[in-house]
Amino acid sequence: MPAPLSKKVTLSDLRAARASGAKLAMLTCYDYSTARLMQEAGVPILLVGDSAANVILGHETTIPVPLEFMIELTAAVRRGAPLAFVVADMPFGSYATFETGVENVCHMVKLSCCDCVKIEVAPSHAALVRACADAGVAVMAHIGLRPQTVNLLGGYKYQGRTAEQAGAIVALALEMQQAGAAAILLEAVPPDVSQRVVERTGIPVIGCGAGPACHGSVVVTHDAIGLSAHRPPRFVPKIGDAAAVLKEMFAKYVNNLESGAYPAPEHQYEMPPEERAKFLK
Ligand code: KIV
Repeated sequence: MPAPLSKKVTLSDLRAARASGAKLAMLTCYDYSTARLMQEAGVPILLVGDSAANVILGHETTIPVPLEFMIELTAAVRRGAPLAFVVADMPFGSYATFETGVENVCHMVKLSCCDCVKIEVAPSHAALVRACADAGVAVMAHIGLRPQTVNLLGGYKYQGRTAEQAGAIVALALEMQQAGAAAILLEAVPPDVSQRVVERTGIPVIGCGAGPACHGSVVVTHDAIGLSAHRPPRFVPKIGDAAAVLKEMFAKYVNNLESGAYPAPEHQYEMPPEERAKFLK
């Protein structure tokens, strides 16, 4: 069992892991209580992903989730896991132009106290990444499959299928590093592509369905613990069945209530006896 986090995880720890070969575990997290548990379980990096749109709000895509909602969730995760490296996802539309991007990134960092922001980048975002880095913000550049472009892609398809596409992903990773990105998140690409990104860049690379060469991996927690409504992507490890455990507990509550076992005397408040006597009289 990994030890609970005992000191603040910083970008230096991510860089050190890259250098030493230690693997970085990252999970999505959207609330205070789960963040507390993850910190206690020794999860060093928590991503407040815009997948909150799917698993918290029940949307089909990540597109509808508002910036202010993401800020609230990130601040809650920060409070729950003050020692973890908290990465805040910038939602769809919040960096559609350079000016709004810089403003919204600073807004997110100030209000949520996250350690890093994640942006789904195209080559044209290099200037935004540079401005954020110059302003002192650690940026995780999300490349490969970018779920916020689902309407352009026509579905969630893995990326880097041709030599040309794979080369463009490697080139984009390098461009983002040159622009000042602190880390790369590489989603849904074949392992040869992530291997090349790892070899060509000098910053931590976190994979999400990107094979074993990456310095760490992230998955949507709800997918991995059996809480998602949809069948998870093939790369997600099944680490438990929280749905079964939760359903059993909810059913127990219903049974206890319906049978009269709850509320029992130990669940009730008592008036001081003299007040009760007065009241009943
Ligand atoms: O929003 C999210 O959860 C993500 C991960 C899938 C990488 O971006």
